Amino acid sequence: MKSLPRSLEGARVLVGIGGGIAAYKTAHLVRGLVAEGADVRVVPTTASLEFVGAATWEALSHHPVLTSVFEDVDEVAHVRFGQEADLVVIAPATADLLARMRIGRADDMLTASLLVTRAPVVVAPAMHTEMWEHDSVRENVAMLRERGVTVLEPAVGRLTGPDSGAGRLPEPEALLDAARAAITAPRDGRGGIRRDLVGRELLITAGGTREDLDPVRFLANHSSGKQGWALAHAALVRGARVHLVAANVALETPPGARRTDVGSAAELAAVVAEQRGQADALVMAAAVADFTAAERSEAKIKKDDADGESVPAIALRRTEDILRHSVLDRAGAARPAIVGFAAETGAGASSALELARAKARRKAADLLVFNDISAGVFGAADNSVRVLDRDGEEVARAEGSKTAVAHAVLDELAALHPEVS
Ligand code: CTP
Repeated sequence: MKSLPRSLEGARVLVGIGGGIAAYKTAHLVRGLVAEGADVRVVPTTASLEFVGAATWEALSHHPVLTSVFEDVDEVAHVRFGQEADLVVIAPATADLLARMRIGRADDMLTASLLVTRAPVVVAPAMHTEMWEHDSVRENVAMLRERGVTVLEPAVGRLTGPDSGAGRLPEPEALLDAARAAITAPRDGRGGIRRDLVGRELLITAGGTREDLDPVRFLANHSSGKQGWALAHAALVRGARVHLVAANVALETPPGARRTDVGSAAELAAVVAEQRGQADALVMAAAVADFTAAERSEAKIKKDDADGESVPAIALRRTEDILRHSVLDRAGAARPAIVGFAAETGAGASSALELARAKARRKAADLLVFNDISAGVFGAADNSVRVLDRDGEEVARAEGSKTAVAHAVLDELAALHPEVS
């Protein structure tokens, strides 16, 4: 049995290209995968070469490109590619390719490889809305999902013609995030992704809130939203439904996630209060402001230039502690499971870990994910965390990519209500 890769670095990724115009976007995905250190094999269908030629894929992946099973027959490539792959990503997948996958055809290099591989398979369909909504496509997608294939939801927006609707290929950045989530996901007995969150609804807050001081200035923080996003992608590949409450996040929405954008702590609190009743889990990954302006100035705050030194005194007031409020509001019920995050630097004689343990007990969420940020973490791809229970005891540790951390947090979350999975 092959050992599991912990990131895309060094992973062998087979990228399948279906015959759709969106194939040009996949060139950026291949670039991104190679930039992360993945060893990428591109396997285009014959039809897809009408849109993007083999030379593009060969140059970007640094490997020759095979389309038919009758090329490089001495190397038995149609078996080898599938066997060697740690991950398969198909983007774009046409209606025709989905149909061939569903019935197990093996009439070209890509479909033959798909029958051989035991690695996770992530499929990004792209087609016109009418085709995407057709009963036969819906049935093929449902069947593939039932077999453990991760079929991403297409994005909604402008299509190739003058029309718009569901059917766009998600942006390369979102596909790369989905690939990261898939390669680090826990596996089922056959090598596919363990879909232990099917039927669960996760409400995940992400990003950092902004508190307006006047029409041009605000108090904010350095949170990029990447950890919340990694949690969303990881939960989606494990089968969950995800509602992301995004505070000032400039990232592509994960395919299939519902997204509500908010600005301030009060707006975030209002959305969480309204939505948490429907959720199986609330994951508070957002960096929420603890203080907001006691009064937002309607006019721009001016400096008083009489002495050239005056500084305005800006009065602040506390915001609602949404995490604590959610725990109290749950009032002993099992749902939603509640996960908090604590970024600590340590203060005086108290170590960052001691502060986090005290916070875990004080907030009494089911899990508190502690992150020692003394060394800096905001905006970085990697993270190192300890997961504490409500008594401050460590239940798990995770290091590596934010996606790997996300899966470790979800493992603990899944274990909280094992009867659901
Ligand atoms: N949080 C919240 N509402 C707030 C502030 C924070 O729900 N007004 C949540 C965060 O989303 C996070 C957790 O509380 O999940 C811990 O955030 P942190 O800022 O570390 O905790 P604070 O209670 O603000 O403690 P500190 O005094 O260390 O700032």
